[in-house]
Amino acid sequence: MNSFVSRIGGKRLLSKTIISRFPSPFPERYIEVFGGAGWVMFALQNIAKLEVFNDIDGQLINLFRCVKYHCEELQKEIRWALNSREIFLDFREQERCRGLTDIQRAARYFVLIKESYGSDARSYGCSRRNLHDPVEYLSAVQDRLRNTVIESRDFEPLIKTYDRAGSLFYLDPPYHGTEGYYPDTFSEDDHKRLAEILKGIKGRFILSYNDDSFIRELYGGFSIEPISRQNSLQTRYQAGGKFKELLIMNY
Ligand SMILES: C[S@@+](CC[C@H](N)C(=O)[O-])C[C@H]1O[C@@H](n2cnc3c(N)ncnc32)[C@H](O)[C@@H]1O
Repeated sequence: MNSFVSRIGGKRLLSKTIISRFPSPFPERYIEVFGGAGWVMFALQNIAKLEVFNDIDGQLINLFRCVKYHCEELQKEIRWALNSREIFLDFREQERCRGLTDIQRAARYFVLIKESYGSDARSYGCSRRNLHDPVEYLSAVQDRLRNTVIESRDFEPLIKTYDRAGSLFYLDPPYHGTEGYYPDTFSEDDHKRLAEILKGIKGRFILSYNDDSFIRELYGGFSIEPISRQNSLQTRYQAGGKFKELLIMNY
């Protein structure tokens, strides 16, 4: 199935390629460390005995939790939202205001993603998008998330908690040089910290990155496969329209 939201750097176009590189048989534990919109997790045909979805962005994870635990209430809350610039701007203002329930907060965030330009949740998209189908789709997402553990932690404690010989980590961190697209900062030291942790894990990992000399050097000892994907919003105007990525694996 597809994810129910878009996210900058989301793996909508690459999910099948990435899954085709997963080890066989499918591992007992599957952990998506930098979950975002979860395009890879939602595209999985196999579901591990233990599946963990994580992202440090609390707004995003609140939305996932509300879909999982309060789906009908969330659907009711979104249904009355009109697609208008005024409401969009009000919701943006209210992101930081106190007194909203988790469901109200999740509904506002969902509308901001759906009605923004490029799903950036910041600028009004000026499209006549109708929320009817996306809202109904949340019921299927709730069903899919029934046995998924949803976490909101930094990658380091998360990996340490779930690392076992039978674990598979899929990691899709902010790409080197594009860290500013996400609300939580990710620094050069974070890229190095991630590489250090992955070097010592017992389980297996598959990691997505942009094709970049700094990243190739950091992961010099691992299997590195270059892949490319069609252009997206960020690369639409670049020559060739192809974006070069890497899949890095420890198996
Ligand atoms: C490239 S996006 C993931 C996209 C995702 N694979 C998809 O298909 O939508 C990277 C994600 O990492 C999250 N992130 C940033 N810093 C993090 C950290 N220290 N620990 C965990 N997640 C983090 C961001 O909030 C963002 O959602």
